[in-house]
Amino acid sequence: MVDENRRSPAAAVFDALGSDYEKAFASSEAHRASLAWLRKRLPPGSRVLDVGSGTGRPTAATLAAAGHRVLGVDVSPVMVEIASRQVPDAEFRCGDIRELPLEEGSFDAICLYFALLQMSRAEQSDLLRRLTRLLRPDGLLALATVPLDVEGFHGVFMGQDVRITSFDAQGVTGMVRDAGLTVLSENSVMFTPTHPDARPEPQLFLHCRREGTAQAT
Ligand SMILES: C[S@@+](CC[C@H](N)C(=O)[O-])C[C@H]1O[C@@H](n2cnc3c(N)ncnc32)[C@H](O)[C@@H]1O
Repeated sequence: MVDENRRSPAAAVFDALGSDYEKAFASSEAHRASLAWLRKRLPPGSRVLDVGSGTGRPTAATLAAAGHRVLGVDVSPVMVEIASRQVPDAEFRCGDIRELPLEEGSFDAICLYFALLQMSRAEQSDLLRRLTRLLRPDGLLALATVPLDVEGFHGVFMGQDVRITSFDAQGVTGMVRDAGLTVLSENSVMFTPTHPDARPEPQLFLHCRREGTAQAT
């Protein structure tokens, strides 16, 4: 049985949303374009970490179908159950990415789509530095977040009470660069989730590489 007192706020929100989250965000062209950016650059059989893997769609499903070895990590047991069922060719683990032991230099790419927003700014920066160390030299990181200058902002997201923390676009880019990543391309869009309560939200997609020897593309 889940101990409600110990469950993280993110797990509570995303356990409640489950597949509704996937439906609300399924039409995101920017997310698909970001995955296409990665697919174009990853050699066959690449090892990819999907942080906050949600239902496994579209990220793990797309990359596993392309022949990559995907490990998804999510703090929500409900999301991990859905993802394991929907994407049997990927591996999923339930846990907080901030606590899960993973080997440094062992991933060719990392996806971090919309999984930072329920962490403090210091935790987001620490996580970016750690994820950079998990990448092999010249490894790629694709990140998406909602670039707003908010800390502990209380709102309602798809009917769930949430507290959101983020940086403005310049702050997100600065955090990524401070972690030791080079930003190769970025895409800023407005997106409206398919949900009765949804409002248009800004989204920032960054495509980055761990600083190494190769030239920016
Ligand atoms: C907004 S959803 C995005 C899901 C997926 N990345 C996508 O873009 O479709 C964020 C996901 O990150 C997970 N998450 C949030 N904080 C996490 C943490 N500290 N460790 C692991 N997963 C986390 C949530 O449970 C949720 O499934």
